[in-house]
Amino acid sequence: MDFLNRVKKIKATLVKKNLKFFKMLNFEFQNSTKIIFGKDTIGKLSTEIPTNSKVLMLYGGGSVKKNGIYEQVKKGLSNFEVIEFGGIPANPEYEVLLKALEIIKTENITYLLAVGGGSVIDGTKFLASAALYEGDSPWDILSKFIRTEKGMPFGTVLTMPATGSEMNSGAVITRAETQEKFGMGGPGLFPQFSILDPQVIQSIPKNQISNGITDAFTHVLEQYMTYPINAFLQDRFAESIMQTLIEVAPMVLENPFYYEAAANYMWSCTMALNGLIQKGVPTDWAVHSIGHELTAKFGIDHARTLAIIAPSHYRYNFETKKKKLAQFAERVFGVHTGTLEEKATAGIDKIEAFFHSVNIPTKLSEYTSEFEGTAERIEARFIERNWLGLGEHKSLTPADVKKIVEMSY
Ligand code: NZQ
Ligand code: ZN
Repeated sequence: MDFLNRVKKIKATLVKKNLKFFKMLNFEFQNSTKIIFGKDTIGKLSTEIPTNSKVLMLYGGGSVKKNGIYEQVKKGLSNFEVIEFGGIPANPEYEVLLKALEIIKTENITYLLAVGGGSVIDGTKFLASAALYEGDSPWDILSKFIRTEKGMPFGTVLTMPATGSEMNSGAVITRAETQEKFGMGGPGLFPQFSILDPQVIQSIPKNQISNGITDAFTHVLEQYMTYPINAFLQDRFAESIMQTLIEVAPMVLENPFYYEAAANYMWSCTMALNGLIQKGVPTDWAVHSIGHELTAKFGIDHARTLAIIAPSHYRYNFETKKKKLAQFAERVFGVHTGTLEEKATAGIDKIEAFFHSVNIPTKLSEYTSEFEGTAERIEARFIERNWLGLGEHKSLTPADVKKIVEMSY
C-alpha cells in the first residue's frame, strides 16, 4: 500500500473510532535528575556531591541501619563534613521536618542527601524548598500551593521503589496536628542525582513491596485511564509499565533476592512517575487527591488508599473512561471478547483482582470500622479548599467525590 493510501486508511479508522478530534496536547519536557542505576552503585555518591559540601544526611525510622545501606552511604560520604538527621516518619511529618530545617540554618548546610523511600525523599524536597523560602511560614508552601522555582541542591539514595519521587519534582507532606496531607513541587525540586541499587529491596517487608507495586501501578492509571487522545506512544509506554509490574509482582514478593525482577520492579516504579508518560495526554489524579484524605484521617498506607478508591472511581466514571478501560483490558490483560462496555467492566475487575493478588484489600471497611461520615467529611474539606472540579475533565464535584468514597466502604 502506498503512503497516501496508508494515511487515508488511518484517517478512516480514526473517524470510525470517533477519535479524529482528539490530538496530542502540546508539551514541554525537562527532567534534570541523573539516574545511577545498578548493583553496588551506592558508593558512587562520593563523586556526585560537590567537594567541600557540608552535607545533611536524612533518613527514616532506622531500616537503613539494619540493612547495611547506612554503612555504604557513610563510606561514600567519608570525604565530606556530614550531619545526620534520622527519624523522618512514613508520611513525612511537618513538625519533624521543622527540626531538620533548624539544623540546615544553624549549621549552614549546603547539600541535602535523602536516604530512604518516598517519605524521606519528599521530606528532603520540602526542606530544599523551605530553606530558601522567604515568606512568613514554610507552611505556606503547602497550604498556599507555592511552586518551588529554586531549591537547595540535593541527591537521593533510594531504598524503596514505589513513588517515583527519586526522579520527579513533587512531594507530599503531612501535618498530623490538623490531619492534612498536601502536595507541593516545582522545577527547583528535581534531585540532582538518584542512586537506584535494586538490591535494596532485599530487606523491605512484604507489605511494603505490595505497597510499592500498587502505588506505581496506580500512578500509571492516573495518567492513562482518561480518554483516548491519539497519543499512541504514551499509551504504549503506560501499558508496558503496567505489564512489567504485573509480570514482576509475584517474583519480587516471592523472592526479593531475585535481581532481575528487583531491577525491573525498581525501574518501572521510577518510570511510572518521572513525568514522561503524562506528557501530551490528559491526566486524572483524583484517586490520589481522595486517597490522601484517607491517610490523613486513618493513617492508612498511601498505596492502600489508592487501591480503596481506584475501583470505585472507575465504576463511578464508567461512561467517560470506558474507551480507555476497554483498551486497557484488551492490551494489558488480553480481554478480546465482548462489547466495549463488557471489556471496560472487565478492566476494572482486573485492576481490583491485581491489587488482591498482591495482598492489598480494596474496601475501606477492611482497614477501619470507623468509616461512617468519611465521605461527608471529605466532601466538606474539598468544598472548603475550593477543590470543585477533579479528574481529567475537571468535572468531578465534591458531591461526586462523596459518592465515590461511599462506594468504597
Ligand atoms: O523509615 P524506615 O525505617 O526507613 O522504614 C521505611 C518505612 O517504614 C521502610 N523502608 C524503606 N526502605 C526500606 C524499608 N524497610 C526495609 N528495607 C528498606 N530498604 O518502608 C516504610 C515505608 O517507607 P516510605 O518512604 O513511607 O514509603 P513510600 O516510598 O511508599 O513513600 C510513601 C510517601 O510518598 C508519598 C506518599 O504520599 C507517602 O507520603 N508520595 C510521593 C510521591 C512523589 N513525591 O512523587 C507520589 C506518590 O503518589 C506519593 O503520594
Ligand atoms: Zn502514589
